[in-house]
Amino acid sequence: MSALTRSPAWQALETHALTARRLSLRTLFREDPARFETHSLVAGPLFIDWSKHLVTRETWQLLLSLARQQGLESAIGDLFGGTLVNHTERRAALHTALRDRSGQAVLLDGHDVMPGVRDVLARMRRFSDAIRDGSLRGHTGLPFDVVVNIGIGGSDLGPLMVVEALRAHMRDDLRVRFVSNVDDTHLVETLRDLDPARTLFIVSSKTFTTQETMTNAASARQWLVTSLGDEAAVGAHFAAVSTNVGATAEFGIPADRVFEFWDWVGGRYSLWSAIGLPIAIAVGMDRFEALLEGAHAMDQHFRSAPLEINGPVVLGLLGVWYTNFLGCATHAVLPYDQYLHRLPAYLQQLDMESSGKRIDRAGSPVEHATGPVLWGEAGTNGQHAFFQLLHQGTQMVPADFIVAARGARQLGRHHDILLANCLAQTQALAFGKTESEARGEMERAGVPTEEARRLAPYRTFPGNRPSTTILLESLTPASLGALIALYEHRVYVQSVIWEINPFDQWGVELGKQLAGGVLSILETGQDRGGMDGSTLGLLSRIAKAGAISPIQGDP
Ligand code: F6P
Repeated sequence: MSALTRSPAWQALETHALTARRLSLRTLFREDPARFETHSLVAGPLFIDWSKHLVTRETWQLLLSLARQQGLESAIGDLFGGTLVNHTERRAALHTALRDRSGQAVLLDGHDVMPGVRDVLARMRRFSDAIRDGSLRGHTGLPFDVVVNIGIGGSDLGPLMVVEALRAHMRDDLRVRFVSNVDDTHLVETLRDLDPARTLFIVSSKTFTTQETMTNAASARQWLVTSLGDEAAVGAHFAAVSTNVGATAEFGIPADRVFEFWDWVGGRYSLWSAIGLPIAIAVGMDRFEALLEGAHAMDQHFRSAPLEINGPVVLGLLGVWYTNFLGCATHAVLPYDQYLHRLPAYLQQLDMESSGKRIDRAGSPVEHATGPVLWGEAGTNGQHAFFQLLHQGTQMVPADFIVAARGARQLGRHHDILLANCLAQTQALAFGKTESEARGEMERAGVPTEEARRLAPYRTFPGNRPSTTILLESLTPASLGALIALYEHRVYVQSVIWEINPFDQWGVELGKQLAGGVLSILETGQDRGGMDGSTLGLLSRIAKAGAISPIQGDP
């Protein structure tokens, strides 16, 4: 057993979990009429109801003891203070500085990073304003009517999710599209109906070496040059966001179109940096800054609220409770908001690239579970797809329901129906329906007694399925910023408890490395040896389909 799993706080939680897994939410609510008040909190512009969780006062005290034992309070200070929390890459993780609106210095190695941050924001404002007002034009003198962001992972998911979320603020005459997949269909389908003379590309890549992005960027460049018939068009139709300014120059992007960020910004934490340029162009820089303000409000809450009423801490500790003590392997995120339809995909990278770790900070394998599989879909669509498993399956899946009190569009009864469904689902999950309730209901509806008895087990809902409801007053740039920062900090809280580094991602390297070897066989037909039988067999099938030249030595 590791020191963590042997520790008194951990052991106490394990013992407590033996009885807690039998808790009844019906009983907890019946016995404590103030449960909603004591199990809800305000975090910046968000209201968080965590009363429908399988926790008692004792559970909560034990989780807080675990947090204190793991030094959570000082770890929060380390994050904001520029400590090298990303110890494997010897880097700080100062994404909070990107949205720091306090006017105070943020020191990294004794150097204030804020003047650089403000300088890039000012450049983003000038550039996005000029695209939006049409004063910055393409090679042939036409204003741009579409911006295509080329990036992947953190250089795609964040801006894409936010642009979708803020679509209500977009203009019809300026579209923003995203290309990420190296599958050529993504680029081809994205460019198909575009006018090259009115298209601006932003190549977004922290490293400017990512294979997918560089391949897409090269093909986009060729499309542009071929269509406009002039190599010189590249400078007018491309911008870049990167930490690798040498490589952007080599691509042919003029320095005044290159927006810098820094190695202390992790890819999946980068939408607050110039990686957010497509957002600024889509909805205007004022709204981008409002997004930063919202995130900053959550940062202040996370830094200053006592652990007991600290949103990211509460959500993080609940995550630890379910993952480590109640054996939940997955976590669902269910935005009841069509504008947030890409939030689960975005959170998958944020959460799973951060928490999918098996080696602790001391370099030893962990002996406890770490990040659960995060998944989700916009409500109410999910209700008609996978909610069956949430309600009556054999696994417990803690779920986050996210909804705005006021809808963005005021169309008929739509928003009332959406809200009603959201709240009803959390009710059904928590309180279920007993077998005798199911039978009684059917009998009252005229179903013959015998038939009602036969069907009752199938129509029973066990309940006690936990959920959090995150309520926004309305979906605005500020509330969205706060929501994203809430999840970022939740990930950090869990990493502190689990003693893992949430800021590296070595697990993505091996596949990239091996792809090089496979690609070389695909393109040359030559196997230099060492390839496994399965991969060679598949390559041979691909060759036989006529897609590539025969593999050397293949019969
Ligand atoms: O492959 C994973 C990853 O490194 C992510 O962490 C990152 O967001 C993505 O690739 C894209 O990287 P880049 O911005 O350097 O192109």
